[in-house]
Amino acid sequence: MTVTGKRGGGEGGGGKRGGGEGATPREIRAEILALVERYVAAEADARAPFEPGRSVIRYAGRVYDEREVVNLVGASLDFWLTEGRYAARLERRLAAYVGVDHCRLVNSGSSANLVALSTLTSPRLGDRRVRRGDEVITLAAGFPTTVAPIVQHGAVPVFVDVDPRTANVDVAALEEAYSERTRAVMLAHTLGNPFDLDAVMAFCRRHELYLVEDNCDALGSRYTSRAGDLVETRRTGSFGDLATSSFYPPHHMTTGEGGAVYANDEELDTIAASFRDWGRDCYCKSGKDNTCGIRFEHQLGELPFGYDHKYTYSHFGYNLKMTDLQASVGLAQVDKLDDFGDARRRNFARLRDGIADLADVFDVVQPTPGADPSWFGFLVTVRPSAPFSRAEVVAHLEAHRVQTRMLFAGNLVRHPCFDEMRAAGTGYRVVGDLRATDQLMERAFWVGVYPGMGEGQLDYIVDQLRRLVATAAGRRDRNAS
Ligand SMILES: Cc1ncc(COP(=O)(O)O)c(C=O)c1O
Repeated sequence: MTVTGKRGGGEGGGGKRGGGEGATPREIRAEILALVERYVAAEADARAPFEPGRSVIRYAGRVYDEREVVNLVGASLDFWLTEGRYAARLERRLAAYVGVDHCRLVNSGSSANLVALSTLTSPRLGDRRVRRGDEVITLAAGFPTTVAPIVQHGAVPVFVDVDPRTANVDVAALEEAYSERTRAVMLAHTLGNPFDLDAVMAFCRRHELYLVEDNCDALGSRYTSRAGDLVETRRTGSFGDLATSSFYPPHHMTTGEGGAVYANDEELDTIAASFRDWGRDCYCKSGKDNTCGIRFEHQLGELPFGYDHKYTYSHFGYNLKMTDLQASVGLAQVDKLDDFGDARRRNFARLRDGIADLADVFDVVQPTPGADPSWFGFLVTVRPSAPFSRAEVVAHLEAHRVQTRMLFAGNLVRHPCFDEMRAAGTGYRVVGDLRATDQLMERAFWVGVYPGMGEGQLDYIVDQLRRLVATAAGRRDRNAS
């Protein structure tokens, strides 16, 4: 956990004190929030500084100051508890940040992916929709809940390999993956590195496929499109028909648990809201009635005329809403996204430069051409010729208190969740041999670049990697002599 940023200025924070006997609720609230502000500042000041070799260097973490905590306490004093005024503001702010017309908050990135894929199954989309047995092109190298909703809806994930340089989809494999039953492409921007959006978008346009960008690890990444005559730089999440965010603490901003679904198209947004909110046809906000003005004048399905629109269901939905407590934290975080992104880019560059001369043993992930990643992590693949294994590197770093992570599932198809389908040979399709995916599963790992890391932590990681390489080289020389 890291506390940064300028002091003061959270929602209702910094207010004047005045909560004595006979004080109004407003005055007491101001006093509470002023105290919260003091508490967070004092707690940050009391925190132990980084000690090389003793302090754990996390792969990720929350970065916040009193603004988040003041907002959170403010939201709890409101005691609205479900989605409310903070959520409405956060949806507008995130839509503007990503560069889309619509944003719906949900309770996790996995829920966002579930809502996005569910949206594509809606009968309202006619023949283009994803039906049972239809295919969705995706990756096995990544996070499981990019893929899980495809399986959960009875659709067939079709796995293509990655380009080992970028750890993103190998776009050369897309045409081979296409079949008459392909309806959508659902891909994550791996560890913040945008995939080749021009190639993927062109493929989707050519075959009239939906594109879902799993942007859970890439909020704030940019991509310059050079399709046609137009050269245009936009944030990831604004290219696909739908896109998703995760606000789980390690991500680019946090609400604790949380996520979002983005769309430009109003119909897709309305369907996404329906799936998020119990599958209902009604689109009133929490606590509101009769937004449509004809609540008792609809005739839908085989219901009698005038049946309450509030309880009319057009989809088999869920309840995946975010609460205002979470949204209040996000509202303070969203202001910091640009600074967070700058720090992530800076930290990545420092690690990359620090081991640039070790290219004979380490391959560092490369940005996709045209991409300006807001990196989620620093992904390194141990070269086959290196005199040590990935396991040795990871053991060395962990022993020296540097947290490491694998590229999530590595190759999802090799996990126990696929045992039954693998044995039966049904329910999914693999294009080619996923050799590069397996390579990442066997030889890649990543360490953090999150904004809470300082130069001391970054240089310590570089130093540990260099020591490991020097020790292995010494061992090799001794064995040779
Ligand atoms: C690419 C990707 N998609 C989806 C998710 C799921 O997000 P959540 O943990 O909020 O459910 C993650 C989680 O880290 C992720 O990395």
